Amino acid sequence: MVAIAQYRETFLKYLDEKVVLTEPKNLYEPIVYILQLGGKRLRPVLTLMTAEIFGTPHEKALDAALAVEVFHNFSLVHDDIMDEAPLRRGKETVHEKWDLNTGILSGDAMLILAYQLFENYDGKTFKALAELFSKTAIEVCEGQQYDVDFETRNDVTIPEYLKMIEYKTAVLVGAAMKMGAIIAETSEKDAEGIYDFGRYLGLAFQLQDDYLDAYGDPKTFGKQVGGDIIENKKTYLYLKALENSSEANKQKLMQLFSEKPTETSEKVETVKAIFNEANVPEIMKTAISDYTQKAFQVLDTLNIGDEEKQILKVFGEQLMKRTV
Ligand code: IPE
Ligand code: IPE
Ligand code: MG
Ligand code: MG
Ligand code: MG
Repeated sequence: MVAIAQYRETFLKYLDEKVVLTEPKNLYEPIVYILQLGGKRLRPVLTLMTAEIFGTPHEKALDAALAVEVFHNFSLVHDDIMDEAPLRRGKETVHEKWDLNTGILSGDAMLILAYQLFENYDGKTFKALAELFSKTAIEVCEGQQYDVDFETRNDVTIPEYLKMIEYKTAVLVGAAMKMGAIIAETSEKDAEGIYDFGRYLGLAFQLQDDYLDAYGDPKTFGKQVGGDIIENKKTYLYLKALENSSEANKQKLMQLFSEKPTETSEKVETVKAIFNEANVPEIMKTAISDYTQKAFQVLDTLNIGDEEKQILKVFGEQLMKRTV
């Protein structure tokens, strides 16, 4: 095993090698731009780490790791169009820097490029990776559609929200890890186990993403703080605030989340005041911690050493503390 920073470094070197600018520039420039914009590289690191945890050199997992990161970045380019987001990783989003059509087509090309990377694996491994990827990618689309549908609904439930974030975010984290297990040719039981670990971690991760969207530090967060409130996203924060507010605040919140004013900062402030009154920050911290614990419980079922379990646990704990 090597340190997490080392996996990231190896991955970035591979990314530099493989993602290069070619013609037509207007297709490939945005692809290089978004992929070189930084980001935590959480998913590819997990793919590499999982391969090692199951006893295979992480270098064998580099193509799968790159596929996952390219797919993730594709989903962000299209997500930023759908969410009308101006900022990504502290810089202009692709559709803002170029235009809508560029964002759509460059995103499409990235999805294909991700698939193509699996062709570097042989028969059985290729099939298993491609199958997992297709299933995951279609679930991400379903999750994204629910997310958008919920913007204009006022009767979204917590179970519906949880299903939505499982699909749009958690399954990709699970799949990133399961790919490492597939490449390492683990037992089916361990592959499923690590998928579940990643899925629970992914749920905690999206809850944290929702929390930071409202409470992140604008100087370091890299995205527009309050973006979910502006877009009427029915996040866990909103749903829990409804549950824990006075009737007057509840009515006010529902009213605010049914309109899109041009003056947004006042809306964000008013909504956050209602969230605070309903104790939402504490509720979020508990929920994030609960899902992280669920991930840790899965570790006991895995056929790996204590040292490896500890590495995964430390990773999960660090994720919980993130501010970007
Ligand atoms: C953002 O993912 C989209 C979500 C699924 C929450 P990340 O927070 O992993 O984004 P980067 O890649 O680090 O920028
Ligand atoms: C994004 O969810 C999930 C996918 C891109 C599939 P969000 O819309 O919450 O992600 P951010 O906050 O824009 O990164
Ligand atoms: Mg978004
Ligand atoms: Mg979104
Ligand atoms: Mg978000």
